Amino acid sequence: MSSRGPKILLENVAIAFGKRLVVQDISLALQEHDLLCIVGPSGCGKTTLLRAMAGLIPLRYGRILLDDVAITRPTPRMAMVFQHFGLFPWKTVRANVEYGLSVQGRRDEEGIVTRLLEVMGLLEYARCYPYELSGGMKQRVGIARALARQPEMLLLDEPFSAVDAMTREILQGELVSLWEDPQRRRTTAILVTHDLDEAILLGDRIVVLCGKPGRVCLDLNVPIPRPRHPRDFRFHPTYPQLRQQIWDALHHGYAPD
Ligand SMILES: Nc1ncnc2c1ncn2[C@@H]1O[C@H](COP(=O)(O)OP(=O)(O)OP(=O)(O)O)[C@@H](O)[C@H]1O
Ligand SMILES: [Mg+2]
Repeated sequence: MSSRGPKILLENVAIAFGKRLVVQDISLALQEHDLLCIVGPSGCGKTTLLRAMAGLIPLRYGRILLDDVAITRPTPRMAMVFQHFGLFPWKTVRANVEYGLSVQGRRDEEGIVTRLLEVMGLLEYARCYPYELSGGMKQRVGIARALARQPEMLLLDEPFSAVDAMTREILQGELVSLWEDPQRRRTTAILVTHDLDEAILLGDRIVVLCGKPGRVCLDLNVPIPRPRHPRDFRFHPTYPQLRQQIWDALHHGYAPD
């Protein structure tokens, strides 16, 4: 395995359900520890693409490689935070988060689960079941479960869409500090969002998907240095043009032939 090759590589990926193509011609390469944000209109295939990267959906065409090896089935090296939570209803909050470790045959020796429950504001709900939680709390359990695994690849599908604006800002900050934490494994992350500012705040790079079937219509780097602060990243001189470019791609999207 080359240390300089991409962590994840998508080559001419097409995915279809029956006869209907959902995404087409998607090629992307991410280096280890990149944080990519994907934005795109509803129905353009963002969730489908993430699910394919997680090995949950077969490709119609092309390939997806993790460290040069094709992904054909789910692997514990990757963790996904699902748009609709995907919690186990029969497990408590703590057991849901612990599942992230047990799936890898690991025990929580360093108290990771308690730390994540604390960070996510869930400690006092540790013994509750998902049906007792609000949508935002369920979403936080899903994020904690994925982070507990310290995966090599983290796939996040609109992870903050069900939380209020204040909690969102806190969780965005926590996600970045966990991602940057030198004590943790270096995680490569892909985050789907509808929120352009969230993409600019979090991403090293932003890909816009558009059209049906969805294709890449914009792929750009975010030149704003880290650490970025939610209160002042919009004052960076490149912000207005960056946001405009993403907006234009979303509204007058084209896909290069
Ligand atoms: N299991 C499935 N079977 C058939 N069609 C599907 C399936 N999953 C998704 N689709 C279709 O694929 C298209 C893309 O869906 P997907 O959920 O990937 O979109 P999305 O970009 O994530 O949208 P949103 O922003 O609303 O979450 C939609 O037209 C959807 O109906
Ligand atoms: Mg989706």
